[in-house]
Amino acid sequence: MADNLPGELKSVYYVNSGSEANEVALKLAKRATGRVEMISCKNSYHGSTHGVLSIMGSEFFKSSFRPLLPGVSHIDFNNEEQLSTITERTACVIVEPVQAEAGVIIPQNNYLSKLRARCTETGTLLIFDEIQTGFGRTGSLFAMNKYGVVPDIVTFAKALGGGMPLGAVVASTELMKCFTFNPVLGHITTFGGHPVSCAAALAALKILLRESWIEDVEAKAKVFIDAISNHPKVAEIRHSGLLIAVDLGKEEYASRILQLLLDEGIMSDWFLFNPTSFRIAPPLCITKEEAIDASEKILNALNKL
Ligand SMILES: Cc1ncc(COP(=O)(O)O)c(C=O)c1O
Repeated sequence: MADNLPGELKSVYYVNSGSEANEVALKLAKRATGRVEMISCKNSYHGSTHGVLSIMGSEFFKSSFRPLLPGVSHIDFNNEEQLSTITERTACVIVEPVQAEAGVIIPQNNYLSKLRARCTETGTLLIFDEIQTGFGRTGSLFAMNKYGVVPDIVTFAKALGGGMPLGAVVASTELMKCFTFNPVLGHITTFGGHPVSCAAALAALKILLRESWIEDVEAKAKVFIDAISNHPKVAEIRHSGLLIAVDLGKEEYASRILQLLLDEGIMSDWFLFNPTSFRIAPPLCITKEEAIDASEKILNALNKL
């Protein structure tokens, strides 16, 4: 995996899930910087365990579980003025390079480069959560390649394991060494990096790099978008590769469409923080013919709204 990552991102620590990967990233940032303040984005989702719940960008999902970690604040994704809230006291900023559960929000006006620059200026570690965007989803192997910004730490899960449970935290060897002293065993896990999961991940990565699936992502996304974008019930479509949000402009439409899609044999999903949209995120191995067929079914569902 390290061969396919840019810059100093060469040391990979395997864990069991995306939530655990982000827990490790936060711990690493605190340990390496000696700082405690952490910043994440509003409407971000980084997992469900206590630490990452603390940085979730929505009070609705957190309030029943307080008290959570102190020192957490939130900024608006794409808001350059708020970058000044990142200071010499900030241990890390964690961000999804494309905000997924917010309803597929794309970085605008080189936002990620500006975020990178502010983090470098303040000695803050930049963490990319590529748990949804990694492994071809946005049309590049990793979203950081697509947007040309290299974080200090990146986390992966979901597609990483090719269907098996696996998460990973990647940083420079120097940074990762912080976990080897004060205390030794900075993060430990019984089954993290299980050989069966790692074998599945390696096989999945080899296939992903061998096939033309990533090159074909944009063309397949276009099939879906062209088929439905002019439908009167579609208010807006936001997408990065095959991570597509179809915004229907009304919560009522977005909740009804899921059953209508199921009736057509299509599994979709809602977004945690964007109640007016539904998601199109097929497996990257979908063929163009299957994409055309699925688009027709989505159109049928939209017609019944
Ligand atoms: C962006 C992002 N980060 C982290 C996670 C948490 O991953 P896991 O469910 O493997 O703990 C998810 C899961 O949906 C996610 O979408």
